[in-house]
Amino acid sequence: MIKDKLQRPLHDLRISVTDKCNFRCQYCMPAEIFGPDFKFLNKNEILSFEEIERVAGIFSELGVKKLRITGGEPLMRKDVAKLIGRLLQIKGIEDIGLTTNGVLLVKYAQDLYNAGLRRLNISLDALNNDIFQKMNGRGVKSEIVLKGIEAALKTGFSIKVNMVVQKGVNDTEIIPMAEHFRKMGVTLRFIEFMDVGNSNGWNWDQVVSKKDIFEMLSKHFTLEPVDPDYFGEVAKRYKYKDSEAEIGFITSVSESFCSTCTRARISADGKFYTCLFAGKGHDLRSLLRNCDDDKQVHTQIADIWQNRKDRYSDERVEGATTSLNKNKIEMSYIGG
Ligand code: GTP
Ligand code: 5AD
Ligand code: SF4
Ligand code: SF4
Repeated sequence: MIKDKLQRPLHDLRISVTDKCNFRCQYCMPAEIFGPDFKFLNKNEILSFEEIERVAGIFSELGVKKLRITGGEPLMRKDVAKLIGRLLQIKGIEDIGLTTNGVLLVKYAQDLYNAGLRRLNISLDALNNDIFQKMNGRGVKSEIVLKGIEAALKTGFSIKVNMVVQKGVNDTEIIPMAEHFRKMGVTLRFIEFMDVGNSNGWNWDQVVSKKDIFEMLSKHFTLEPVDPDYFGEVAKRYKYKDSEAEIGFITSVSESFCSTCTRARISADGKFYTCLFAGKGHDLRSLLRNCDDDKQVHTQIADIWQNRKDRYSDERVEGATTSLNKNKIEMSYIGG
C-alpha cells in the first residue's frame, strides 16, 4: 500500500468521462462562461474506454478499491454502461458509484444496472421549479430528475441525493427536500457550497454551513448521529429518529476532511489530480499513449502519490489565504 507525505493511502479513484453537461448550474458551469462558443474537449483528447480501463487497473494495483464515475454529466458519454461493466471486472475493485444529474436516468438506469452498477448519487438542488430551473441554467423541471430517481429506485439502485446549498438561492428548500426524501426513505446529503474552479463567484457569505442546516432541521426532526461506514467517509451522517432514512452533510468548507483524504482524480483528458483544488494535473494521457509498459506507468503514478501534500480545504479553514491556489481547475472538468 502506498502512502502520501501526510500518511494518507490511495483508496479511491474518481474518473471524469466527459467535460460536457446538459445543465448549466450557476455554481459549476455558469451559462455566461460555458456558452455556445465554449470549446469542450475533442474526441481524441478524451481517454478512450481502453485507456480508462488500463489506468484503472494500474491504480487498483496501487491500492484503489473504489471507483466513482463522474463528468460533467457522465451519462452524456456514449456507452458508459459498457465501460462500467469492464471496470467491474478489474481485480481489486470492490465498489463503483456514479454521480449524475439524473436527467438521462429514465433512459439508462436499466442498462447501468445490467452492467453491474448498484450505486448512484443524484444531484437535485430544489423541488420548487422557480428555484431549480434557475439553478440548473437550462430550465429543466425538478419532476424530470424525480422521475429519474424513481426509475433508478424501481430498477434496484441504492441512491443518495446531493443538494448543494447556497444562501439566498435554495436555502428555503432545505426543509421541503428533507421532508420529501425522508418520506421516500432516500438519503439526502447537504453539500456546503465550495470555492471550486474560478467561474462560480464563490464567497463565504453564500455558504450555509452544516451547523446552520442542522439547526434548521432540528426544529422539524429529531436526528441521531450514525457512525461512518469506512475510514475517510466524506459525509457526516445522521438518521431520523422515527424513520430509517438518513441525511448527510458534506462539510468541506466548515469542517474540512483533508487529513483522511484518500482520493485521486482523473479528468476526461487523462490528467491526474491529487486534489479537487489542484491547479495543475499530471499528464497521464501522454504517458499511456507513449508507453506500453504498465510498470513504468505504475511507478510514475506511485511517485506522484507519494509526493502528495495537498490539504486545500484545511488550509482554507485555517485562513491560510496566501497559500490558497488562485488558479483552480473547473468542477465540470474534474468531476467533483
Ligand atoms: P460516496 O461516499 O461513495 O457515495 O461518494 P461521494 O460523496 O464521495 O461522491 P459525490 O460525487 O456524490 O460527491 C459529493 C460531494 O462531495 C461533491 O460536492 C464533491 O465535490 C464532494 N467531495 C467528494 N470528495 C471530496 C474531496 O475529496 N474533497 C472535497 N473538498 N470535496 C469532495
Ligand atoms: N460546491 C459544492 N458542490 C458542488 N457540486 C458542483 N459544484 C459544486 C460546488 N461549487 C456538486 C454537484 C454534484 C457533485 C459531484 O458536486 O452538485 O452533486
Ligand atoms: Fe450541474 Fe453537475 Fe452539470 Fe456541473 S456537472 S453543471 S453540477 S449537473
Ligand atoms: Fe482531499 Fe483536496 Fe478535498 Fe482536502 S481539499 S479533502 S486534499 S481533495
